[in-house]
Parts: sequence; structure tokens; C-alpha cells
Amino acid sequence: MTLLVTGSAGFIGSCVVRQLIAETDEPVVSIDALTYAGNPLSFGPAADSPLHRFEHADIRDEPRMRAIFEQYQPRAILHLAAESHVDRSIHGPAEFVSTNVIGTMTLLQVALDYWRALPEPRKSAFRFQHISTDEVFGSLSATDPAFEETTAYQPNSPYSASKAGSDHLVRAWHHTYGLPTLMTNCSNNYGPYHFPEKLIPLMILNALEGKPLPVYGDGQNVRDWLYVEDHARALRLVLERGRPGETYNVGGAAERKNLDVVHVLCATLDELHPAGAPHARLIQFVTDRPGHDRRYAINFSKLESELGWRPQESFETGLRKTVQWYLDNPGWVASVRSGDYRHWLDKNYAQRASTS
Ligand code: NAD
Ligand code: TYD
Repeated sequence: MTLLVTGSAGFIGSCVVRQLIAETDEPVVSIDALTYAGNPLSFGPAADSPLHRFEHADIRDEPRMRAIFEQYQPRAILHLAAESHVDRSIHGPAEFVSTNVIGTMTLLQVALDYWRALPEPRKSAFRFQHISTDEVFGSLSATDPAFEETTAYQPNSPYSASKAGSDHLVRAWHHTYGLPTLMTNCSNNYGPYHFPEKLIPLMILNALEGKPLPVYGDGQNVRDWLYVEDHARALRLVLERGRPGETYNVGGAAERKNLDVVHVLCATLDELHPAGAPHARLIQFVTDRPGHDRRYAINFSKLESELGWRPQESFETGLRKTVQWYLDNPGWVASVRSGDYRHWLDKNYAQRASTS
């Protein structure tokens, strides 16, 4: 029995790998192209486990994907590899379509051929699990009900459009070819090993360096926040007990306005790292993101009632753990601050005028 995990050196994929290696005896073969977002240091203790094998490979490389399936004979694949940052998708959408849409189709084809040739009972037990986002559902007003699995797709950014495209392909491969797929649509994750281009780690690291905390627009956009370890647990549960062909929403029951998130973060930093307090003095409103979705909210009652999952971490406890992790791990932070990262900061923030 072996599990394949794509996007394994990224934020969520590495958490899944660390959890699997810490809590199960099953071999894990992890695949990652090591783009700017992938970092083998994120495997943490799983890096040295004899149960973990890393394959440096691109999911768009079909012969390589076929060879990996052939060699390791997995019982399932958890597909997390993607370009994942909305702001980057605005600056350069092509890579998002290439990896998220073409890459997912490549994997679906390879998995389909592999699955078709499997003998029973391995064939019935095989799963292709696709990890997606709540952003495919579009934007909510303050009073709209939360996204359900049946909510119509209305993606607004190149990122969410490319994820929506991949979701539709997964659905089609199940409906047309019978591939036993599972899909999850999750809200915003946060936690350790998060690349500092996303809101929470960017704000933590800027605050520690006394740099401005750039809040887009009026800071009233709402996201639902889930601690990454809770997401990884949900993915493992869906893999073992989810019904093929189904999709499951995953959420944190923690809707927060961006400005409130930044204030809680600053207060937590004031306590855990008093040098530089009050950190909230660094908050700066900047030009908004084009097409910025106003609110995401997720109804995960299907996952709760069918499989008994709920987040274990509250936003406040999870955020505290996250801030402490960044304080304790300057080595990891230094390792991701490559030339590419500095170039990105110039590109995304240099032209954003301060509006406060
Ligand atoms: P991430 O950007 O941190 O990691 C993505 C990983 O995929 C990186 O390690 C990168 O090197 C790898 N990758 C990119 N292109 C590749 C390719 N062509 N071949 C092989 N590997 C490639 O992203 P994340 O936050 O860990 O997200 C993982 C998945 O979860 C994505 O599919 C994302 O859409 C989804 N998701 C993320 C969130 C969130 O809040 N971060 C929420 C819901 C869903
Ligand atoms: P982000 O972490 O990029 O996730 P997503 O866009 O996928 O939800 O952004 C979360 C929210 O924070 C989003 O509303 C945009 C906002 N934001 C800022 O206000 N400033 C920033 O510097 C960043 C990166 C994000």
C-alpha cells in the first residue's frame, strides 16, 4: 500500500506528508516540481523517514507520471500540486492554466490508464483525490448564505478560474470514465510552513521586521480561516471514507475581516514578541487587488454529518501557534526568501500606493 501526494513540498501538501508519516505506517511517495513555493525543508521530520520517498517531478510530465505510477503502484493519489496565489495569477495567468488545468488533466489520464489495468479488489479501492478551494464559488455579500457543495461555480480570478477548470475535469473523469474521484473545496488555510506571500505569514514577517503591513482596499473583505493541520485531517478522512464521485466542503467556522485578522495578529505579536510593540502602528491601507472577492464562507455540514469532521483548532489558538512557529523557525524563513521572493515583493507592492 502506497499513497502518492502531489504538491508535497508546498504549504498544505507538506502538512499532509508530515501527518501521514507521523501517524501511519504507510509508505508515502511525494511529488513536487519545487517551484518558488516548494521547499523540501517543509518535510520537517518526515524528510528522513524510510517511509517517505520524494520524487522531484512536474505533474505535466506525462511519461514521468506514468513511470511513477508504474513503479510505486499507489492505492490512491492526493493531488495538491498547483499554482496557488491569487495576486501572482493576476500578474501571470498562463502558468496557472498550465499547471492547474493541463497538469490536472495529465494526472487524470495517467491515473485512469493505471486504474483501468488494476485487478480487483485494488481497482475498486483506488481513489483520485483532488484538493480544491472555496474560491471557485465566487464572492458572497455580507448576508448571503455560505457556499454549499451544490453552489454554482462563479470563479472571479485567474487562480480560481483555473482551479474551477481542474474541478470540472475531475468531475468529468468520474462521470464519463468512472474514475473513483473525491474532491474537497476548502477555505483559507493558515499555519506553520506557509509561504510569506499570503496574508498571515506576510504580516507576521513584515511586523517582525518593522515593515508596513499592507492591507488591501478597506480591509473589510472576509475569509474563513482553517488551521492547516485540521485541513490535512479532513483530507485523510475523506480519502478513507468519502464516497467516490462526491465533493466535500471543508471550512474553519472562523469568518474574519482582513483588518480584524491583522489586529489579532499584531496583539499576539505584542505579547509573544514585545520588541516593536505596538505592531498595529505598522498597518497601512494600500490599493486594492483587482477583482477582489468580498467574502467567502463555507458550509461544511456534509463533511460533519457524513464523516464526523470538525476543526479542532479555534482561530485564536491556531494563530497563536502559527506566530510562535515563525518566531521559532527563522531558518525556514530564511530558506524561502530567495531572489524570486524579493522580486515578487517589488512587483506586487511597489506600485500599490498607500491609501491611509
Ligand atoms: P502552495 O503554493 O504552498 O504549494 C503548491 C506546491 O505545488 C508547491 O510545492 C509547488 O512547488 C508545487 N507545484 C506547482 N506546480 C507544480 C507542477 N507543475 N508539478 C509539480 N508540483 C508543482 O499551495 P498550498 O497552499 O499548499 O495549496 C495546495 C493545494 O490546496 C492547491 O491545489 C490549492 O489550490 C489548494 N487549496 C489551498 C488553500 C490555501 O488556503 N492555501 C485553500 C484551499 C485549497
Ligand atoms: P491571500 O492570503 O492572498 O489569500 P486569498 O486571496 O486566496 O484569499 O489573501 C487573503 C486576504 O488578504 C485577501 O482578501 C487579500 C488580503 N491581502 C491583503 O490585504 N494584503 C496582502 O498583502 C495580501 C497578500 C492579502
